[in-house]
Amino acid sequence: MDFTLSEEHKMIQKTARDFAEAELRHDAIERDEKAIFPEKAVTQLGEMGFLGMITPEKYGGAGFDMLSYVLALEEIARVDAATCVIMSVTNSLCQCVITTWGNEEQKQKYLVPLARGEKLGAYALSEPQSGSDASNMRAFAEKKGDHYILNGTKNWVTNGKSADTYVVFALTEKGVGHKGVSAFIVERDFDGFTTGKKEDKLGIRSSDTCELIFDDCKIPAENLLWEEGRGFKIAMGTLDGGRIGIAAQALGIGQAALDKSLKYSKEREQFNRPISDFQAIQFKLAEMATELDAARLLTCRAARMKDRGEPVTKEAAMAKYYAGDTAMRAANEAVQIHGGYGYITEYEVERLMRDAKITQIYEGTNEIQRVVIARQLLRE
Ligand code: CAA
Repeated sequence: MDFTLSEEHKMIQKTARDFAEAELRHDAIERDEKAIFPEKAVTQLGEMGFLGMITPEKYGGAGFDMLSYVLALEEIARVDAATCVIMSVTNSLCQCVITTWGNEEQKQKYLVPLARGEKLGAYALSEPQSGSDASNMRAFAEKKGDHYILNGTKNWVTNGKSADTYVVFALTEKGVGHKGVSAFIVERDFDGFTTGKKEDKLGIRSSDTCELIFDDCKIPAENLLWEEGRGFKIAMGTLDGGRIGIAAQALGIGQAALDKSLKYSKEREQFNRPISDFQAIQFKLAEMATELDAARLLTCRAARMKDRGEPVTKEAAMAKYYAGDTAMRAANEAVQIHGGYGYITEYEVERLMRDAKITQIYEGTNEIQRVVIARQLLRE
């Protein structure tokens, strides 16, 4: 497979890198510490077309390919993984649902402002009792005339507080498992919809994550996506793309861990020489670099296949779990290489370690990714 970057890919990569260095670097530690949402940066990303990167130009998006998207996400995550997930959820979870399964009216009304960055999107699948077992949800939407009345709770919703437009999954029929799940577009101002408390998290602290509460929330019937009972297919199909985005985020975190470790190990002297002279450090650097390259190849392959319209369920799961585990190992080693300095906020590698952890958990734990891969292998 050819992973040669075109001039356009290189330009997008550079634009994202320059933006991250100029706009995100200087206050990333403070935003993490105080859990401050990057309001200004998100507005700027919208103006740059990065909040609708993979949405077709026809609907206000930038219409870039998946490889461009992966390159941009990695560069943003290299400096600030929290901003990266804000960008990836509105792009690959919320907008991809509407692009793929929305009707023309829904696209004009909801997709266009999301793609232009005028609105922010979120995706609500998990509930307090249903995480990995995603179809085991309780939220129920009952059809009453030209509306659905939705009751239930969703949790772990990225952009939960800041979003304007939410893709929400709920049962429209009970007792039939995943065949009873439907998907809806919900506006933040709909009656009966409130957000719960913002979660206080280990990492990606400046992105907001919260609970959504639906108490007789009135959703117009025309906000149903595709058909009743098709919601689980929508949820799973969307996560195939989303997981490529999380792999890219993990790559950014892992690359930052390697960059910082290379720099520090050449500067830090012990026993009258830089610690990079010691094989114990060299082996760590070599393993980090090799695993990151392998993760990058898996991620680019999944992106390329998605660009060609091929099924990517297995390849996206491989990329997501391998990149997530790689980021976690790399961040852990970066803290070790930095010693005591790695354990304090100033050197930023402890933040990488905290941020890396979530890439092994959200959009399907890395154990679930292995389940997805094994099921596909056994089916092939
Ligand atoms: N694409 C399309 N359809 C799919 C699919 C895919 N990738 N995977 C499964 N399906 C379909 C199946 O074909 C099946 O349909 P039929 O019965 O018509 O054939 C149906 O979905 C059910 O499939 P399974 O029997 O495989 O479903 P399951 O209940 O065993 O669950 C699972 C499978 C892989 C464990 C799935 O539940 C899963 O991925 N769980 C993890 C959930 C997850 O990723 N949550 C993340 C939440 S989003 C997030 O993190 C928020 C954020 O803000 C970042």
